[in-house]
Amino acid sequence: MSLEPLIKQKIREHGAMSVADYMELCLSHPVHGYYIKQDPFGAKGDFITAPEISQVFGELAGLWCADMWSQAGAGPAALVELGPGRGTLMNDALRATYALEDFHESISVHLVETSPVLQAAQFHALADAHDRLEWVESIDELPEKPLYIVANEFFDALPIRQHVQTPQGIRERKVGIDTESGELCFVMESGGLSLAKGDMKIKDGTIIESCQPAKSIIGALCDHMREYGGAMLMIDYGYLGDSHQDTLQAVRDHLFHPVLKTPGDADITAHVDFATLREVAQDHGMAVCGPTEQGKFLVRLGIEARIERLLQHASSEQAHQLIVGAKRLIDPAQMGDLFKVMAIVADHHATPSGFYAD
Ligand SMILES: C[S@@+](CC[C@H](N)C(=O)[O-])C[C@H]1O[C@@H](n2cnc3c(N)ncnc32)[C@H](O)[C@@H]1O
Repeated sequence: MSLEPLIKQKIREHGAMSVADYMELCLSHPVHGYYIKQDPFGAKGDFITAPEISQVFGELAGLWCADMWSQAGAGPAALVELGPGRGTLMNDALRATYALEDFHESISVHLVETSPVLQAAQFHALADAHDRLEWVESIDELPEKPLYIVANEFFDALPIRQHVQTPQGIRERKVGIDTESGELCFVMESGGLSLAKGDMKIKDGTIIESCQPAKSIIGALCDHMREYGGAMLMIDYGYLGDSHQDTLQAVRDHLFHPVLKTPGDADITAHVDFATLREVAQDHGMAVCGPTEQGKFLVRLGIEARIERLLQHASSEQAHQLIVGAKRLIDPAQMGDLFKVMAIVADHHATPSGFYAD
C-alpha cells in the first residue's frame, strides 16, 4: 500500500485532516514518508540545498559557530545541526574549524535527524570528521552544555496549519476527498482562530499560516541556551511580517509539483514565518539579529576572499564550479535574496558576524 490510500482511509474514518497532519504524514510517515524512505538531494534527486552547491556555505557556518563559541569564552560545548541532510554542511564546518585552537577538543557534535536513510548518509559522510559524534531524533536529547546550532532548510519542513478568512468567518483549510472524482482536495471547515490583529480587518481570502512545531522547537532551544549558553544560526526561505498567502509547495525532480498529488513522493515545504520565530525567541529572553539576506550575510562573512583562496589551487573544472556555486548562493536573482539568515544569541552578546548594518 502506498501513502495515498492510507491518507484517504484516515479521512474516511476521521473526516478531513489539517494541512499539518497531511504534511507530517507525507514527510515523516514511518514507512512511506518522503524523508524516511530516500535521500532526496542533488542533481539526481528532487532538489539541491546550499551546502550541496558550495563547500564554502558549510565552512562559513562552522566558522560563525566557532567565532560565537570563542567570544563566549570557549570551554566545553556542543556543535549541533538540525536536519543535517547528507551531512555535507557539518563535514565542511568541521574541516574549516579543524585548525582553530581547542575548538575540536572542546566540542561534541550532535545531529538532530529523524530519517534513518539520512542518518546513515550522515554517518558515512562524517565518520572521520570528529571523534565525538552523536545522533538524536529530538532536541530534548541535546546535552546540558552551551549549544552552537545551525539549521539550514530545517524549519521549512515542519508542518503548518492554514486558516482562511471567508465571508462566513474563519475557516481551516484542510485535506479532504472530492466526492465526484475520489481524489484528494482542499476543503474548508469551521475553525476557532481569530485572524484579525487588533482592530485590523482582514480581507476575505487572506490565508494565515501557523507552525506550532517551529515555535516549540525555538522556545525549547532558547530556554536551553539561556540556561547553558550558546547561539543559533537559521537559514531558510521565508517572510518577515504577514505573508497572507498560501506558501505550501511541493517539489519533485527539481520542478513544482501539485501538493496533493502522489503524497510521500515529493518534498513539501512552507515558507518560514521569521517574525513569529523572532518574537518567540525574544519572549524566551534571547536577542535576535536579522533576518538578513543570505547573499549579504555570506559576503559579510568573507565568501569572496574564501573563493579567491580556493581558486589558487583549483583545476579549471573546480574553478568553474566554485565560481558558479558562490554566485548561486549570493546573487539576489538566485538564492541571495530569497533565503534569509537569522541569529539567536544570548541577550548580552555582541552583534554576531554577518549582521552588521549595510
Ligand atoms: C530540506 S532538508 C535540509 C538538509 C540540510 N540541512 C541541507 O541544507 O542540505 C530537511 C532535513 O530535516 C530533516 N527533518 C525534517 N523534519 C525533521 C524533524 N522533525 N526532526 C529532525 N529532522 C527533521 C530531514 O530528514 C532533512 O535532513
